[in-house]
Amino acid sequence: MLEEVQQIESKAVAEIQAAEDEKILEELRIRHLGRKSPLRLVMGQIGQLPAAERPASGQIAGQAQKAIQQAFDDKEMALRQAGDTGSALDVTLPGRRPLLGRAHPLAQLTDELVNVFQGMGFDIADGPEAEDEYHNFDALNTPDDHPARDSHDTFYLEDTGLLRTQTSTVQIRVMEKTPPPIRIISPGRCYRKETVDATHHFAFHQIEGLYVDRGVSFADLKGTIEAMGRQVLGEDTKVRFRPHFFPFTEPSVEYDFTCSICHGENATCSICKGTGWIEIAGAGMVDPAVFENVGYDPEEFTGFAFGMGLERIAMIRHGIDDIRLFLENDLRFTRQF
Ligand code: DAH
Repeated sequence: MLEEVQQIESKAVAEIQAAEDEKILEELRIRHLGRKSPLRLVMGQIGQLPAAERPASGQIAGQAQKAIQQAFDDKEMALRQAGDTGSALDVTLPGRRPLLGRAHPLAQLTDELVNVFQGMGFDIADGPEAEDEYHNFDALNTPDDHPARDSHDTFYLEDTGLLRTQTSTVQIRVMEKTPPPIRIISPGRCYRKETVDATHHFAFHQIEGLYVDRGVSFADLKGTIEAMGRQVLGEDTKVRFRPHFFPFTEPSVEYDFTCSICHGENATCSICKGTGWIEIAGAGMVDPAVFENVGYDPEEFTGFAFGMGLERIAMIRHGIDDIRLFLENDLRFTRQF
């Protein structure tokens, strides 16, 4: 019997060790360790042996069963490891690209404009989004009964103050604290009680600019705006000033750039509507009343100011047709820039 058990054991162990995959191994487990295995058949006969031989035979059979089980466990582990490490180490597979973050299109535009103006010697200034009426309106020469207030549908805060409707507030805050000369730009978020649609949002972004010194002229304003247009929209960009009204500048203009999309050559251009010009924003020479409000002497100093909406410029640049996309945080949108 000893010999028979040894044969069964070595055959089973050899077959198990040679198993090529887990499926074959499972078949072998049933064949060699199952209830109808050769070893079990031998074990079933032990009861018929003379009593003196039974313990030793039982021990031999038990050891054989352990050896086969051990061979099975070892092989199972080996096959699993081979399977796992095999896929983890397949160096021929293309790597998985890590998901890199990137700046939001408005942040990219802000950075670019900040760069342009820093190149012309402007500093960056900041101001609060929760403002008071004085900085948002009164100091900007827009008293309570001024009709220009009506065009700013304002969110008033419960106790006091409001959400700023324009970054022009920062002009006042900077001039209050700093004597001239001043050369600042101020990017930031503004709010107006607009009904949201494809071209209006209650939250939007502006960049404000202010330059005050002795002898600053309207020509300086035009040169500065034109330099910006060239750097942001292309070297051949021209600027056009149209008379306009803002309470805090006199004279005031709205400025347009030549259309960077069709260059005035497409009568059906969706960006310039065939006019060849795209409206960008407002500007002007700082009104003497504003200087008086911050304690500057309007006889000694002159200055210009300008403001522009960032969403509008980004929409023109990238051909974006819905302003709501900027604030939805949809990665399918922001990943495109
Ligand atoms: N704050 C104005 C607006 O939101 C834009 C503007 C116009 C700003 C003329 C200026 C300026 O600084 O001089 O409509």
